Amino acid sequence: MAGNAWRSLLTQAVGVAVRKPALASASFSRGVKTVTMIPGDGIGPEISAAVMKIFEAAKAPITWEERNVTAIKGPGGRWMIPPDAKESMDRSKIGLKGPLKTPIAAGHPSMNLLLRKTFDLYANVRPCVSIEGYKTPYTDVNLVTIRENTEGEYSGIEHMIVDGVVQSIKLITENASRRIAEYAFEYARNNKRTSVTAVHKANIMRMSDGLFLRKCREVAENYKDIKFTEMYLDTVCLNMVQDPTQFDVLVMPNLYGDILSDLCAGLIGGLGVTPSGNIGANGVAIFESVHGTAPDIAGMDLANPTALLLSAVMMLRHMGLHDHADKIQTACFDTIRDKKVLTKDLGGSAKCSEFTAEICRRVQDLG
Ligand SMILES: NC(=O)c1ccc[n+]([C@@H]2O[C@H](COP(=O)([O-])OP(=O)(O)OC[C@H]3O[C@@H](n4cnc5c(N)ncnc54)[C@H](O)[C@@H]3O)[C@@H](O)[C@H]2O)c1
Repeated sequence: MAGNAWRSLLTQAVGVAVRKPALASASFSRGVKTVTMIPGDGIGPEISAAVMKIFEAAKAPITWEERNVTAIKGPGGRWMIPPDAKESMDRSKIGLKGPLKTPIAAGHPSMNLLLRKTFDLYANVRPCVSIEGYKTPYTDVNLVTIRENTEGEYSGIEHMIVDGVVQSIKLITENASRRIAEYAFEYARNNKRTSVTAVHKANIMRMSDGLFLRKCREVAENYKDIKFTEMYLDTVCLNMVQDPTQFDVLVMPNLYGDILSDLCAGLIGGLGVTPSGNIGANGVAIFESVHGTAPDIAGMDLANPTALLLSAVMMLRHMGLHDHADKIQTACFDTIRDKKVLTKDLGGSAKCSEFTAEICRRVQDLG
């Protein structure tokens, strides 16, 4: 594919808003902005430091407020994020987050879940686009998964009925289904995408997925410029691995989105290169790398910061800082395409710091 065409696809894929982003607030448009940085655990501090270095090289008008988000017990014994992190997010409205370890049997819920609940981040957006120079069995993947983030199978309502029998409730509401469908269609329209596919199992879960699908159909009526299709989850999985180029924007309930978004990340090279954003109402959003804390390489200067960097590029676009986003994205993809300075997971032998320095150099060259 010609360089420019390829770059324009990538630009779309990490969420350039051709029109003003529907959920971005006007307060993001001028001056230096504060972003809450949650470095996270394991390799989190290394990849966060890399992103901050690259932002500095790009002269991005961002100041960072670093916050730790280990769960604490609040009044009444409820788990909550530390007040100084909540207060920072309430003020900045925008967060960038590295991976967080989820200690098994620590007694508290997943911090990722707690963050989504605390800030009502109802839409998880993951653009997946083939990266030139990073070979996978698939080329020309260019799709976006939009996952309902607040309910469905992850509502956390589980109980034991009798010894040996447990029940887990899948909660689907009209409001959350309509809201995620509207987000998906707005996203498609704002990003010059042409189709939205609702992914469901309404043939089996007639009431819950049935309601989700009904809301998607209703919302589709208001977006006649966007082609709407519906597909069973299993059919999507089959078709996705056979020919992912047939998909554009996909919208789905929580569990399906969790699984399908990782499957799609696999098509383009894995979680190390896939950006992600969690969007709430009124411009509130947390952008994050979706890989884990990589404890096996933590502290060894071996981590690949690409996923967090591309998430930060999504964040810049959300804030209307398109010039800085373009510059950083170009420097990152050019570095990968040239193959000279790559981290081990991308097939190279460079350290995280060397890969970061190369992107910084290219960013500075771009002026
Ligand atoms: N979003 C999140 O915060 C998130 C997501 C997944 C897992 N986790 C947590 O992370 C911890 C470890 O999980 P895991 O081992 O299953 O998955 P992982 O993603 O941390 O690691 C899987 C493999 O991928 C490699 N890897 C991951 N990210 C990399 C990067 N940026 N650069 C280079 N290599 C990278 C690791 O070295 C490892 O070999 C657990 O505590 C888990 O709960 C957090």
